[in-house]
Amino acid sequence: MSVAKKDYKRITTKTLIEMKENGEKISMLTAYDYTMAKIVDSSGVDVILVGDSASNVMAGHETTLPITLDQMIYHASSVIRAVERALVVVDLPFGSYQSDPKEALRSAIRIMKESGGHAVKLEGGSEIKDSIKRILHAGIPVMGHLGLTPQSIYKFGTYTVRAKEDAEAEKLMEDAKMLERIGCFAIVLEKIPAALAEKVAKSVSIPVIGIGAGNGVDGQVLVLHDMIGMTHEFSPRFLRRYMNLYEDMTTAISQYVTDVKAVDFPNENEQY
Ligand code: KIV
Repeated sequence: MSVAKKDYKRITTKTLIEMKENGEKISMLTAYDYTMAKIVDSSGVDVILVGDSASNVMAGHETTLPITLDQMIYHASSVIRAVERALVVVDLPFGSYQSDPKEALRSAIRIMKESGGHAVKLEGGSEIKDSIKRILHAGIPVMGHLGLTPQSIYKFGTYTVRAKEDAEAEKLMEDAKMLERIGCFAIVLEKIPAALAEKVAKSVSIPVIGIGAGNGVDGQVLVLHDMIGMTHEFSPRFLRRYMNLYEDMTTAISQYVTDVKAVDFPNENEQY
Protein backbone atom coordinates (compact mmCIF):
# COMPACT_ATOMS: atom_id res chain seq x y z
CA MET A 1 0.00 0.00 0.00
CA SER A 2 1.42 3.37 -1.00
CA VAL A 3 0.89 6.39 1.22
CA ALA A 4 2.39 8.85 -1.27
CA LYS A 5 0.33 12.06 -1.42
CA LYS A 6 1.14 12.80 -5.06
CA ASP A 7 2.25 10.64 -7.97
CA TYR A 8 5.60 12.15 -8.99
CA LYS A 9 6.97 10.81 -12.29
CA ARG A 10 10.44 12.20 -11.61
CA ILE A 11 11.91 13.41 -8.31
CA THR A 12 13.89 16.65 -8.28
CA THR A 13 15.30 18.80 -5.50
CA LYS A 14 12.17 20.95 -5.82
CA THR A 15 9.95 17.87 -5.40
CA LEU A 16 11.58 17.14 -2.05
CA ILE A 17 10.91 20.65 -0.79
CA GLU A 18 7.28 20.32 -1.98
CA MET A 19 7.02 16.99 -0.12
CA LYS A 20 8.15 18.67 3.09
CA GLU A 21 5.63 21.49 2.58
CA ASN A 22 2.86 18.91 2.02
CA GLY A 23 3.88 16.78 4.99
CA GLU A 24 4.81 13.81 2.78
CA LYS A 25 7.75 11.86 4.21
CA ILE A 26 10.74 11.29 1.92
CA SER A 27 12.16 7.78 1.42
CA MET A 28 15.85 7.42 0.69
CA LEU A 29 18.06 4.32 0.34
CA THR A 30 21.59 3.69 -0.82
CA ALA A 31 22.53 1.82 -4.00
CA TYR A 32 25.91 1.31 -5.59
CA ASP A 33 25.25 -0.80 -8.69
CA TYR A 34 22.90 -1.10 -11.68
CA THR A 35 20.89 -4.16 -10.59
CA MET A 36 20.14 -2.97 -7.06
CA ALA A 37 19.42 0.58 -8.23
CA LYS A 38 16.85 -0.75 -10.72
CA ILE A 39 15.03 -2.59 -7.91
CA VAL A 40 15.21 0.38 -5.54
CA ASP A 41 13.99 2.82 -8.19
CA SER A 42 11.14 0.52 -9.33
CA SER A 43 10.03 0.20 -5.68
CA GLY A 44 9.29 3.91 -5.49
CA VAL A 45 12.15 5.19 -3.36
CA ASP A 46 12.37 8.98 -3.76
CA VAL A 47 16.13 9.49 -3.34
CA ILE A 48 18.93 7.04 -4.12
CA LEU A 49 22.15 7.82 -2.33
CA VAL A 50 25.35 6.55 -3.87
CA GLY A 51 26.90 6.67 -0.43
CA ASP A 52 30.56 6.39 0.44
CA SER A 53 29.29 3.51 2.59
CA ALA A 54 30.18 1.63 -0.63
CA SER A 55 33.63 1.62 0.96
CA ASN A 56 32.27 -0.70 3.69
CA VAL A 57 29.50 -2.55 1.89
CA MET A 58 31.02 -3.09 -1.55
CA ALA A 59 34.75 -3.03 -0.85
CA GLY A 60 34.89 -4.42 2.70
CA HIS A 61 36.87 -1.55 4.22
CA GLU A 62 36.45 -0.86 7.92
CA THR A 63 35.69 2.85 7.33
CA THR A 64 34.47 5.10 4.53
CA LEU A 65 37.85 6.82 4.23
CA PRO A 66 39.60 4.67 1.58
CA ILE A 67 37.06 4.99 -1.25
CA THR A 68 38.29 7.25 -4.07
CA LEU A 69 36.59 9.78 -6.32
CA ASP A 70 37.11 7.49 -9.33
CA GLN A 71 35.45 4.62 -7.48
CA MET A 72 32.49 6.81 -6.46
CA ILE A 73 32.09 7.87 -10.10
CA TYR A 74 32.10 4.21 -11.18
CA HIS A 75 29.37 3.32 -8.66
CA ALA A 76 27.31 6.42 -9.46
CA SER A 77 27.41 5.91 -13.22
CA SER A 78 26.21 2.30 -12.77
CA VAL A 79 23.30 3.55 -10.63
CA ILE A 80 22.40 6.35 -13.03
CA ARG A 81 22.01 3.88 -15.92
CA ALA A 82 19.26 2.10 -13.93
CA VAL A 83 17.26 5.01 -12.57
CA GLU A 84 14.17 6.54 -14.15
CA ARG A 85 12.39 8.24 -11.25
CA ALA A 86 14.53 8.81 -8.16
CA LEU A 87 16.83 11.74 -7.47
CA VAL A 88 20.39 10.38 -7.39
CA VAL A 89 22.69 12.00 -4.81
CA VAL A 90 26.38 11.09 -4.81
CA ASP A 91 28.73 11.37 -1.82
CA LEU A 92 31.92 13.35 -2.27
CA PRO A 93 34.47 10.95 -0.73
CA PHE A 94 36.97 11.77 1.99
CA GLY A 95 39.89 13.79 0.65
CA SER A 96 38.05 15.15 -2.38
CA TYR A 97 36.74 18.38 -0.84
CA GLN A 98 38.31 19.14 2.54
CA SER A 99 41.51 20.87 1.45
CA ASP A 100 40.07 23.87 -0.42
CA PRO A 101 36.93 25.10 -2.21
CA LYS A 102 38.51 24.88 -5.69
CA GLU A 103 39.32 21.21 -5.19
CA ALA A 104 35.80 20.65 -3.82
CA LEU A 105 34.31 22.20 -6.95
CA ARG A 106 36.58 20.17 -9.24
CA SER A 107 35.49 16.96 -7.49
CA ALA A 108 31.80 17.87 -7.64
CA ILE A 109 32.10 18.73 -11.35
CA ARG A 110 33.77 15.37 -12.05
CA ILE A 111 30.88 13.57 -10.30
CA MET A 112 28.24 15.49 -12.27
CA LYS A 113 30.00 15.20 -15.66
CA GLU A 114 31.37 11.67 -15.46
CA SER A 115 28.56 9.87 -13.59
CA GLY A 116 25.47 11.88 -14.52
CA GLY A 117 24.47 12.13 -10.82
CA HIS A 118 21.90 14.79 -9.94
CA ALA A 119 23.42 16.23 -6.74
CA VAL A 120 26.29 15.78 -4.30
CA LYS A 121 26.46 15.27 -0.53
CA LEU A 122 29.25 16.56 1.72
CA GLU A 123 29.82 15.88 5.42
CA GLY A 124 30.27 18.83 7.76
CA GLY A 125 29.09 22.32 8.72
CA SER A 126 30.86 25.66 9.13
CA GLU A 127 34.28 24.07 8.44
CA ILE A 128 33.34 23.41 4.80
CA LYS A 129 30.99 26.34 4.24
CA ASP A 130 33.18 27.93 1.53
CA SER A 131 33.48 24.66 -0.37
CA ILE A 132 29.72 24.15 -0.33
CA LYS A 133 29.14 27.73 -1.51
CA ARG A 134 31.56 27.28 -4.39
CA ILE A 135 29.80 24.10 -5.52
CA LEU A 136 26.38 25.72 -5.22
CA HIS A 137 27.56 28.76 -7.23
CA ALA A 138 28.43 26.38 -10.08
CA GLY A 139 24.78 25.25 -10.14
CA ILE A 140 25.34 21.88 -8.48
CA PRO A 141 22.72 20.96 -5.85
CA VAL A 142 24.19 20.08 -2.44
CA MET A 143 22.80 17.90 0.34
CA GLY A 144 24.44 18.54 3.74
CA HIS A 145 25.25 15.87 6.32
CA LEU A 146 25.54 16.63 10.06
CA GLY A 147 25.67 14.70 13.34
CA LEU A 148 27.66 11.49 13.06
CA THR A 149 29.80 12.09 10.00
CA PRO A 150 31.66 8.81 9.34
CA GLN A 151 34.49 10.47 7.40
CA SER A 152 35.54 12.02 10.77
CA ILE A 153 35.45 8.73 12.67
CA TYR A 154 39.09 9.00 13.76
CA LYS A 155 38.32 12.42 15.28
CA PHE A 156 35.20 11.14 17.11
CA GLY A 157 36.82 7.84 18.10
CA THR A 158 33.49 5.97 18.21
CA TYR A 159 30.22 5.56 16.28
CA THR A 160 28.08 6.52 19.29
CA VAL A 161 25.24 9.07 19.24
CA ARG A 162 26.41 12.64 18.53
CA ALA A 163 25.19 16.02 19.85
CA LYS A 164 23.98 14.79 23.24
CA GLU A 165 25.78 17.70 24.94
CA ASP A 166 24.41 21.26 24.65
CA ALA A 167 27.45 22.77 22.93
CA GLU A 168 27.48 20.20 20.12
CA ALA A 169 23.68 20.37 19.77
CA GLU A 170 23.83 24.18 19.45
CA LYS A 171 26.58 23.98 16.81
CA LEU A 172 24.56 21.40 14.88
CA MET A 173 21.50 23.67 14.90
CA GLU A 174 23.60 26.64 13.73
CA ASP A 175 25.18 24.52 10.99
CA ALA A 176 21.77 23.33 9.78
CA LYS A 177 20.50 26.92 9.55
CA MET A 178 23.69 27.94 7.73
CA LEU A 179 23.29 25.07 5.20
CA GLU A 180 19.74 26.22 4.53
CA ARG A 181 20.81 29.88 4.22
CA ILE A 182 23.57 29.25 1.68
CA GLY A 183 21.28 27.14 -0.51
CA CYS A 184 21.55 23.41 0.26
CA PHE A 185 18.37 21.58 -0.82
CA ALA A 186 18.33 19.03 2.05
CA ILE A 187 20.27 17.83 5.08
CA VAL A 188 21.00 14.33 6.38
CA LEU A 189 21.15 14.05 10.18
CA GLU A 190 22.88 10.90 11.37
CA LYS A 191 22.64 9.32 14.83
CA ILE A 192 21.56 12.23 17.00
CA PRO A 193 18.81 12.46 19.68
CA ALA A 194 15.31 12.37 18.14
CA ALA A 195 14.21 15.51 20.00
CA LEU A 196 17.10 17.54 18.56
CA ALA A 197 16.50 16.20 15.04
CA GLU A 198 12.83 17.18 15.24
CA LYS A 199 13.78 20.66 16.45
CA VAL A 200 16.16 21.07 13.49
CA ALA A 201 13.52 19.83 11.01
CA LYS A 202 11.05 22.39 12.39
CA SER A 203 13.63 25.21 12.25
CA VAL A 204 14.55 24.91 8.56
CA SER A 205 12.38 24.97 5.43
CA ILE A 206 14.50 22.40 3.55
CA PRO A 207 13.93 18.66 4.09
CA VAL A 208 15.81 16.96 6.92
CA ILE A 209 16.38 13.26 6.32
CA GLY A 210 17.36 11.14 9.29
CA ILE A 211 19.26 7.95 9.96
CA GLY A 212 19.10 7.08 13.64
CA ALA A 213 17.45 10.47 14.24
CA GLY A 214 13.86 9.49 15.10
CA ASN A 215 10.67 10.11 13.14
CA GLY A 216 10.16 13.82 13.76
CA VAL A 217 12.19 14.58 10.62
CA ASP A 218 11.05 14.87 6.99
CA GLY A 219 12.33 11.54 5.70
CA GLN A 220 14.43 8.47 6.42
CA VAL A 221 17.53 6.93 4.89
CA LEU A 222 19.07 3.50 5.46
CA VAL A 223 21.90 1.56 3.87
CA LEU A 224 20.15 -0.88 1.49
CA HIS A 225 22.33 -3.89 2.32
CA ASP A 226 21.55 -3.42 6.03
CA MET A 227 17.76 -3.07 5.63
CA ILE A 228 17.48 -6.18 3.41
CA GLY A 229 19.69 -8.13 5.80
CA MET A 230 22.50 -8.86 3.36
CA THR A 231 24.91 -7.60 5.98
CA HIS A 232 24.40 -9.28 9.35
CA GLU A 233 27.21 -8.15 11.61
CA PHE A 234 25.97 -4.55 11.97
CA SER A 235 22.92 -4.13 14.21
CA PRO A 236 22.48 -0.60 15.54
CA ARG A 237 19.23 0.20 17.35
CA PHE A 238 17.97 2.40 14.51
CA LEU A 239 18.18 -0.36 11.90
CA ARG A 240 14.98 -2.17 10.88
CA ARG A 241 15.72 -5.31 8.87
CA TYR A 242 12.95 -5.98 6.35
CA MET A 243 14.47 -9.28 5.15
CA ASN A 244 17.17 -11.68 6.15
CA LEU A 245 18.87 -12.09 2.80
CA TYR A 246 22.15 -13.23 4.34
CA GLU A 247 20.40 -16.35 5.63
CA ASP A 248 18.23 -16.85 2.53
CA MET A 249 21.19 -16.52 0.18
CA THR A 250 23.41 -18.80 2.25
CA THR A 251 20.68 -21.46 2.22
CA ALA A 252 20.16 -21.13 -1.54
CA ILE A 253 23.87 -21.16 -2.37
CA SER A 254 24.54 -24.14 -0.08
CA GLN A 255 21.74 -26.00 -1.88
CA TYR A 256 23.38 -25.17 -5.24
CA VAL A 257 26.71 -26.56 -3.98
CA THR A 258 24.95 -29.73 -2.80
CA ASP A 259 23.15 -30.13 -6.16
CA VAL A 260 26.38 -29.70 -8.16
CA LYS A 261 28.27 -32.21 -6.00
CA ALA A 262 25.38 -34.70 -6.25
CA VAL A 263 25.22 -34.28 -10.06
CA ASP A 264 21.63 -33.18 -9.55
CA PHE A 265 22.23 -29.88 -11.38
CA PRO A 266 21.75 -29.47 -14.27
CA ASN A 267 18.93 -31.96 -14.85
CA GLU A 268 17.65 -33.07 -18.25
CA ASN A 269 15.49 -29.98 -18.69
CA GLU A 270 18.36 -27.67 -17.87
CA GLN A 271 20.65 -28.70 -20.70
CA TYR A 272 20.75 -28.64 -24.54
O1 KIV B 1 27.30 6.78 2.88
C1 KIV B 1 26.15 6.59 3.31
O2 KIV B 1 25.53 5.54 3.13
C2 KIV B 1 25.52 7.69 4.06
C3 KIV B 1 24.22 7.39 4.75
C4 KIV B 1 24.45 6.57 5.94
C5 KIV B 1 23.46 8.62 5.05
O3 KIV B 1 26.04 8.75 4.12
